[in-house]
Amino acid sequence: MKQFKRTLITTALPYANGPVHIGHLAGVYVPADIYARYLRLKGEEVLMIGGSDEHGAPITIRAKKEGITPQDIVDRYHYIIKKSFEDFGITFDIYSRTTSKIHHDTASAFFRALYDKGCFIEKTAEQYYDREANQFLADRYITGKCPHCGNESAYGDQCEACGASLNPTDLIHPKSAVSGSVPVMKETRHWYLPLDKWEPFLRRWILEDHTEWKSNVYGQCKSWLDMGLKPRAVSRDLDWGIPVPVEGAEGKVLYVWFDAPVGYISNTKELRPDDWETWWKDPDTRMIHFIGKDNIVFHCIVFPSMLKAEGSYNLPENVPANEFLNLEGDKISTSRNWAVWLHEYLEDMPGKQDVLRYVLTANAPETKDNDFTWKDFQARNNNELVAILGNFVNRALVLTWKYFDGYVPALNELTGCDRQTLQEFAGVKAQIERLLDAFHFRDAQKETMNLARIGNKYLADMEPWKLAKTDMNRVATVLNIALQITANLAIAFEPFLPFSMQKLNGMLRVEPLGWKRLGATDLLPAGRRLNLPELLFEKIDDRTVEAQVQKLLDTKKANEAANYTPKPIGEMIDYDCFAPLDIRVGTVLECVKVPEADKLLQFKIDDGLQKRTIVSGMAACYDPQDLTGKQVCFIANLKPKTLKGILSEGMILSAEGAAGQLTVIMPEKPVKPGSQVK
Ligand code: 2FM
Ligand code: ZN
Repeated sequence: MKQFKRTLITTALPYANGPVHIGHLAGVYVPADIYARYLRLKGEEVLMIGGSDEHGAPITIRAKKEGITPQDIVDRYHYIIKKSFEDFGITFDIYSRTTSKIHHDTASAFFRALYDKGCFIEKTAEQYYDREANQFLADRYITGKCPHCGNESAYGDQCEACGASLNPTDLIHPKSAVSGSVPVMKETRHWYLPLDKWEPFLRRWILEDHTEWKSNVYGQCKSWLDMGLKPRAVSRDLDWGIPVPVEGAEGKVLYVWFDAPVGYISNTKELRPDDWETWWKDPDTRMIHFIGKDNIVFHCIVFPSMLKAEGSYNLPENVPANEFLNLEGDKISTSRNWAVWLHEYLEDMPGKQDVLRYVLTANAPETKDNDFTWKDFQARNNNELVAILGNFVNRALVLTWKYFDGYVPALNELTGCDRQTLQEFAGVKAQIERLLDAFHFRDAQKETMNLARIGNKYLADMEPWKLAKTDMNRVATVLNIALQITANLAIAFEPFLPFSMQKLNGMLRVEPLGWKRLGATDLLPAGRRLNLPELLFEKIDDRTVEAQVQKLLDTKKANEAANYTPKPIGEMIDYDCFAPLDIRVGTVLECVKVPEADKLLQFKIDDGLQKRTIVSGMAACYDPQDLTGKQVCFIANLKPKTLKGILSEGMILSAEGAAGQLTVIMPEKPVKPGSQVK
C-alpha cells in the first residue's frame, strides 16, 4: 500500500440554513475528528478542513420564509454552527464559509479554467418557471406529490418521506414554493459537465482501483455508474450565489454543488496561502472526504470529474460516507424540528460533550441507518462510561491514594495473572489501529472500552483491598499495573473522549502522551505523585432523559397541529334537522375509569332534573379527576345504549384535535345544570 506524507481531511460543508444537530455530528464531524486526532497523536501531518455552505436553495428558501436576506440567514447560522463544533471539540484547522471573497475568486477561477479548456457543453433545456414570481425554480422550490409513495409535499430533488431522489418533472401536480402557482416549462441556457465523458475513467478509478471503499459507498457509486451518467448542469438561474464568470451569463450563478466542494480548496488556501498546493496537488498527500450518504454522488462522481477535468489536482483516496442517524425512530428533519440541536443539548446537559460523542460513535450509522434514543443514551452513559471506564479509573486512583498517599507504587515481582493481563492489553493497540485505519470507528471505540474492561476485571480478580491486609508488595504491583492501564486509556480514548481524557491527564499529571506509547507499561514512573481523583462521568437519572423525550413529544404535537387541515364541511341541512337535538350543560358529579376498558370513562352527571350516567371514550385524553366537578355539554335525548354492561344515557361533546386527541366542550362561565345549548 502506498505510504503518504500527509493527510487532508475534508468534512462536508453544512448548509448555513439552521443550527447543527446530532445527525451532523454522528455522520460526519465526530468520525472525522476521531480520525484527525488519531493521526495527530501518531505525529502525522494533518489538516482538517471545514466550513459553512452558504449558497443554494436551502438558504434562499429559509430567507424567504423569514422575510430577510440570504446574507442575514448565513450570517446568523454560520456563527452558531461554528460555535457548536468548537463546543464539541471538533478540531478543524479552519472553519470558513463559502461567501468569503477567497472562495468566490477560487470557485469562479475553477469554473473559468474548465470553461477555457472546453470542458463544458452549453445547452438550452426546458425548466420549470414561475410566471407569477418571474423566476426559474430551483429543484427545491418545486413541491408536489411523490410518484413513489404519494407524499403530497415531496421536493423537486427528493422526497423526504421515502428518500427517493427525484427530478422536478417526476412530481405529480407540481407547485411553486415561491408563489404557490403551477409552474410552466420554459427554455433556459446552462453549462453542463459531461459526466458521461468521464464514466470510463470513473469506472476504472472506483470500481477497479478502490475496491477497499466502504461497501455502502462503493455500492452507491456502482449503481450510479451502471445506470449510465448524463451531463449535469453546473449553473442555475438564481440571484444568490457566485455569478457564472462568462460574458452573457447575467442572472446565472454556479450550481451550489459546483461551488461547495471547491470550498475545500478555498478554505485550504485561506489557511495555508503559501503551501496550499502541496495539500491538493502533491501525490504524497492523501485526501479523505468525510460526508453523509446523500453527498456520495457529488464527492465520488461529480467533484472527481471536475478535478480530473482541471487536471492538476489529487483525487480522494477514500470517501468513508456514513448512512443516516434517525431520532427515536423518525428521520431527523430541520424543517420539522425533529432533531437534538447541539446548542440545546449543551444548555440542557452542560459539560456532557463526551457523553454525546461516545453515544453517537457507539451507534454510528456506519453501514446502515441507525437510531438515537434517549433510553440508549442513558444506558450507554450509566452502564459503560460510568460503570466501566469511570469506575475503573476511579478505583485505580482512589486505591493509590488510600494505600500509597497518591504516589505511583513500584512494580514488584509479576505473577502469571499480571503477565496475562499485560499481554491482553498490549494486543489491543494493534486491533484499535487496524479498525481506525479502516474507518471502523464504532468498533474501535468498543475495543478501547475493552481495555477498561480488562482493567476492571484485573482489579476485581486481584482484590487489592484484601491483599492490603497481608501483602503490600502485591498491592503495589497490582496498582502499578492498574495505573499503567489507566494511562493507556488516556491515550486510546483521546480521539473519542477528548474532554474527559484531558481531565484524566490532569489527574495523572502527564502531558498528553503520543500514540506511539500506547501499549507501554512504564507510562507512569514509580514515585510520581498523582493529583486527587475526580469523577470522569456521572449517572444520568430517569428525570433527565424523560424531560428530553417530553421535548420531542411536544415537537410531534406541534407538528401535527401545524399540519392539521380540518375536514371539508359536511352537506347542508335545514334548521329542522338540528332542532330535535337536545344539547344540555351538566355538572360532572363523579368520573371513574371503566374497568377492563382502556378507553372508557364513566360519568355521573347532574342534568338539572336528575342524575344520569354517561360512558365516553376519552380515557386516553383525561384522567378522571381532571373532569370531576367540571361542566360539560352533552346530547340529552340520545337513545340510551349499553357499553361494557353500563347503560349510557347521552353523549358528551368534545372537539377532536389533529392527532385524534379530545378536548371536552365546556361553557365559558358556570351555568345552571340542565341549561340548553342553542
Ligand atoms: O448536504 C449538504 O449539507 C451540503 N451542504 C454538503 C456540501 S459538501 C461539500 F461539497 F461542500
Ligand atoms: Zn416518496
